[in-house]
Amino acid sequence: MLEILNGLAKQAEEEAEKIHDRASLAALKAKFLGGSSPLKQAFADLKNLSDPKQKGPAGKMINDVKVQLESLFDRREKALSEEEAQKKMAGEKVDISLPGVSRVKGAMHPCSLVVKDLTDFFLGLGYKVAEGDDVELDMFNFELVNIPKDHPSRDMQDSFYIDDSRLLRTQTSAAQAHVLQAAKGVGPIKIICPGKTYRRDDDDLTHSHQFSQCEGLVVGKNVTMGQLMETLTLVLRHLFGEKRQVRFRPSFFPFTEPSIEVDVSCYNCDGKGCPMCKNTGWIEVLGAGMVHPNVLRMNGFDPEVYTGFAFGIGLERIAMLKYGVEDIRDFFTSDEAFLRQFRKE
Ligand code: DAH
Repeated sequence: MLEILNGLAKQAEEEAEKIHDRASLAALKAKFLGGSSPLKQAFADLKNLSDPKQKGPAGKMINDVKVQLESLFDRREKALSEEEAQKKMAGEKVDISLPGVSRVKGAMHPCSLVVKDLTDFFLGLGYKVAEGDDVELDMFNFELVNIPKDHPSRDMQDSFYIDDSRLLRTQTSAAQAHVLQAAKGVGPIKIICPGKTYRRDDDDLTHSHQFSQCEGLVVGKNVTMGQLMETLTLVLRHLFGEKRQVRFRPSFFPFTEPSIEVDVSCYNCDGKGCPMCKNTGWIEVLGAGMVHPNVLRMNGFDPEVYTGFAFGIGLERIAMLKYGVEDIRDFFTSDEAFLRQFRKE
């Protein structure tokens, strides 16, 4: 019997080694340990032993074989699971030599690049960024910046009206009234407000019904024209190069007094005259001035105590000059070929 049983363990071991799937292993286990296995039979035969003294040792022996078989099957089951996992992993291996699915990289819009540049610059000078809404009240867009209902300067800034009192803002100067009112008559104020603006205009190379501006407003107790000129010189040299000359010309805006228009010496010809500056040597870039006392007063500031300066920069104009864009419509027609040029690799 001992021999038969030992033979059983050996046979099971040999057969189990050949099996590489779990179902066949389960069948083999049933064959060696199941209800009709020789081992079960050996346990059953114990009671028929003629010598009862033999029952103990024989039982122990059969049991040892049983333990041996059980551990054999445990081992094989584990080995098979491992084998299967390895196979699965090999099948799922990522082929890193395959070219990946490339995604089209986006680019910052050239006007956003100018906004970012200006924002970084003015934050460095201690300004804060104010935000305004595209839909604005006529009151803020015009009246509170000293452009009453019948003012002729409104003709140049016709807009898209939503109803009698609301329109798409024609200028970021509307932000001036909001910022002043929020400060409740107490300075200092130092903000820029970049954003979209709209006007009823026939679109061509240099005109567009939608464009963007960056407003600047500084109000305090001793704010001077000299500070305005210095600030604008700094920002224009930042944008167009340290060697640029800056020229101030008298002008008119309803919300500033005095008002100026500002030119920068042509960076293309260094002021000698070329098609870019229409042979004048100068490029007009922005409007500015000292905040009109009416604007201060209407928005809760005492013009006897406070003075201020303001400026408005046309962002497309700056982007056109900086990046050599010839058609303002390129900024909003979403032509990928145009926008792709501003992609940083
Ligand atoms: N709002 C003016 C425009 O759209 C630009 C401007 C000029 C803004 C002078 C200012 C300023 O703040 O002082 O034409």
